[in-house]
Amino acid sequence: MIIVCCTFVFVSAIVQETLFKDMQNSEHTRTKKDQQSLETKFQLYTDTTEEGCQILFNQLETLDKCSFNASLPLVMIVHGWSVDGILEDWIWKMAAALKSQDKQINVIIADWLTFAHQHYPIAVQNTRHIGQEIADFLEWLEESIQFSRSNVHLIGYSLGAHVSGFAGSYISGTNKIGRITGLDPAGPLFEGMSPTDRLSPDDANFVDAIHTFTKQHMGLSVGIKQPVAHFDFYPNGGTFQPGCHIMHVYNHIAQYGITGITQTVKCAHERSVHLFIDSLLHNDKQSTAYWCNDINTFDKGMCLSCRKNRCNTLGYNIREERLPKSRRLFLKTRARMPFKVYHYQFKIHFINEIQGKQIDPTFSISLTGTKEDAKNLPITLVEGINGNKTYSFLITLDTDIGELIMIKFKWEGTAVWENIWDTVQTIIPWTKGTRRPGLIVKTIRVKAGETQQKMTFCSQSIENIHLYPAQEKTFVRCEDRFRRQEK
Ligand SMILES: *[C@@H]1O[C@H](CO)[C@@H](O)[C@H](O)[C@H]1NC(C)=O
Ligand SMILES: *[C@@H]1O[C@H](CO)[C@@H](O)[C@H](O)[C@H]1NC(C)=O
Repeated sequence: MIIVCCTFVFVSAIVQETLFKDMQNSEHTRTKKDQQSLETKFQLYTDTTEEGCQILFNQLETLDKCSFNASLPLVMIVHGWSVDGILEDWIWKMAAALKSQDKQINVIIADWLTFAHQHYPIAVQNTRHIGQEIADFLEWLEESIQFSRSNVHLIGYSLGAHVSGFAGSYISGTNKIGRITGLDPAGPLFEGMSPTDRLSPDDANFVDAIHTFTKQHMGLSVGIKQPVAHFDFYPNGGTFQPGCHIMHVYNHIAQYGITGITQTVKCAHERSVHLFIDSLLHNDKQSTAYWCNDINTFDKGMCLSCRKNRCNTLGYNIREERLPKSRRLFLKTRARMPFKVYHYQFKIHFINEIQGKQIDPTFSISLTGTKEDAKNLPITLVEGINGNKTYSFLITLDTDIGELIMIKFKWEGTAVWENIWDTVQTIIPWTKGTRRPGLIVKTIRVKAGETQQKMTFCSQSIENIHLYPAQEKTFVRCEDRFRRQEK
């Protein structure tokens, strides 16, 4: 059903792409500031009114009337393509969350619904015009009330991300606006375009983006895949999000009728918004993301480093660091708010005593921390165990277990496994009377992403390091013992 919907939405985009290309070539002709009113409505969000207070371009008295405070920073929320022509619920949630985190800001909602409630390619074409209007509006604030553009943070969702990019690039003068956040910036008609035709790191002093729905369908994805910012976040790999899976389509349809299909598509796309809101609402649960080449490497737990700007905080409280090249950051999340999980890399050295025979065991692991325990976490190794090698994998926990003090490592296996074992025994006989071969696991090395702590765990009994199916072994902290051995 997702397929039907995406086809419906975006194939019409492809059909009209030719039309769009023609229109794009004709420069947008409006000469700036030659008109007193703008198409975009700028609503100052207040806790007290439902609608917000409208600030009118070139009408200073409306700034007073709405109590715009020029000495405070301005955060402007820019919505995206509109299917139904009304402001979506998340906009008010975002505005309220911004105010709750820090009352000392002005929050403006840039309402460009009449230009966004169009066929997708037309709405795309309008993004430049609206970007220009936002630039005009900001210049007017600077000229009339000594407001500084470096105090501006544009938060744009979907098409709104590119609107924000155009606003940043059209504002005149050499200084840039402070920050742009792109929330799942739109993909169709922007993917692969030159930096001047989409959101890019040049558009503000600092640009960050969260990519949540880049799953491809017929060569297109709803959200843009390529990096467009200084820091590009790809939660759960950025293609799709937990809790948005197809089985939920039926719940959504039960709840919303046929529009439930759109709800499901929106789920992953709009997740970018809710991740950002989460960062405002849960100060104690800030999500860390880590620099990595790709999600497969990340899934092996190999990217949990914070050295030299390799990690950053997702959302409002990001560390604003300008680096010469875009950084793609990865993280896992929960399916619901608060989204934060705790990332761990586990490195286990296995010696497979059955020479030449690869085995594909299933393991589970139980962790004891100073605050909490986490029991029976499944471990899936992507490759079978062969010979004598270290394997690395990622484990995520929903809760903060404190400092890790003990690990129980279990080779999941029942009678079935024992049977296989017996078969193996007859095929590959070993010297009678000696113990049967198993896996040797001496140490488990752990790195906690969130604390950057590295720990080593050793088998509790040094004599008994062999692991067999259905067995569980306990590992305890042994940094000292381990260092002594290394010397
Ligand atoms: C504007 O904000 C500043 C800084 O918080 C504050 O000192 C000042 O009173 C505010 N002005 C108005 C008119 O509210
Ligand atoms: C495993 O490999 C290491 C180094 O690669 C070697 O020192 C060790 O003897 C090997 N152990 C076994 C049981 O093959």
